[in-house]
Amino acid sequence: MKNIYSNIYSFDKIILKKTVRLLEQNSVVGLPTETVYGLAGNAYSKSAIKKIFKFKKRPSHNPLIIHYNNLKDAKQDVIFNKSFLKLYKKFCPGPLTFVLKKKAKSKISSLATANLNTVAIRFPNHKIIKNILKSIDSPLAMPSANISSGLSPISALDVFKEFKKKLKIIIDGGVSKVGIESTVIDLCTKPRILRPGVIVERDIRKVLKVNLSKKNLKLRSPGMMRKHYSPGIPVILGQTPKSSSHAYIVFGKKYKNINNYFNLSKKANLKEAAANLYKIMRKIKDKGYKKIYVSKIPKTGLGLAINDRLKRASK
Ligand code: TXA
Ligand code: MG
Repeated sequence: MKNIYSNIYSFDKIILKKTVRLLEQNSVVGLPTETVYGLAGNAYSKSAIKKIFKFKKRPSHNPLIIHYNNLKDAKQDVIFNKSFLKLYKKFCPGPLTFVLKKKAKSKISSLATANLNTVAIRFPNHKIIKNILKSIDSPLAMPSANISSGLSPISALDVFKEFKKKLKIIIDGGVSKVGIESTVIDLCTKPRILRPGVIVERDIRKVLKVNLSKKNLKLRSPGMMRKHYSPGIPVILGQTPKSSSHAYIVFGKKYKNINNYFNLSKKANLKEAAANLYKIMRKIKDKGYKKIYVSKIPKTGLGLAINDRLKRASK
């Protein structure tokens, strides 16, 4: 069924068929996942991948995450290892992305992987994307559905605002529950987190029973550009606003309900704060505030991912 934004659809059998057909024809579509909304295209098709990079204005050296419905399909493209299988068993489907070695016979377009010999793979946990992955023969390359360096979208309307009618279909799967992008872990050498997320280091350490590498090999995650997740207005960390025309993002119950204060979580719950982060930054921008100040947010557990996104937004 359509709504007023003529390319946003709710999910049913007819739209499933249409979406699958479009993906098979190498078009790109906007799809919901549990983390953020993605811009999906056939990972085996050079022309689909080209469209993704063009729509997002994404630099070609920043590789895409390839999404699968099951292990059997992923095995066509990457080399599994023990750490991967342990983490898969514990967290998948879910908000965790694995960087693994690419198989020589993999059909993934080399454009999607920025010519690297590794691939980032993910098994998303959302009914709609799982249904779509089950219905097509190829995996889906799916970066967040936003113009490069902006905020990731967490609703169909957010995706619409980025790409308007350029996409034939945006499927409405509700607000993304996690609200920030998946944790990315490199398993090609000693396990190392490349992008923090809701699955935190401690969770991973418990499963692998090894300490994770802290080595910051920038080249491993070429897309982890410093300026990223930007709301389009200045973001200033660790300071209070000087004027009520500036928004203040806060965390915890000690902050009063003041007009220009936006609380990520009154209960000081980091999961809730992560889920609210992009929602609140978009809201502040839409309300016409010129600057965003941010109070201190704990730098442990999931707080690391929130601080990571805020820090990049402030560059
Ligand atoms: O939650 C998510 O992961 C969302 C949803 C849509 O699944 N996707 C997402 O994709 O955040 P994107 O393209 O916005 O971020 C992908 C990240 C980038 O930082 C990229 O550099 C890294 O994954 N990446 C992809 N392939 C890689 C590889 N072979 N080696 C290292 N990093 C890689
Ligand atoms: Mg992104």
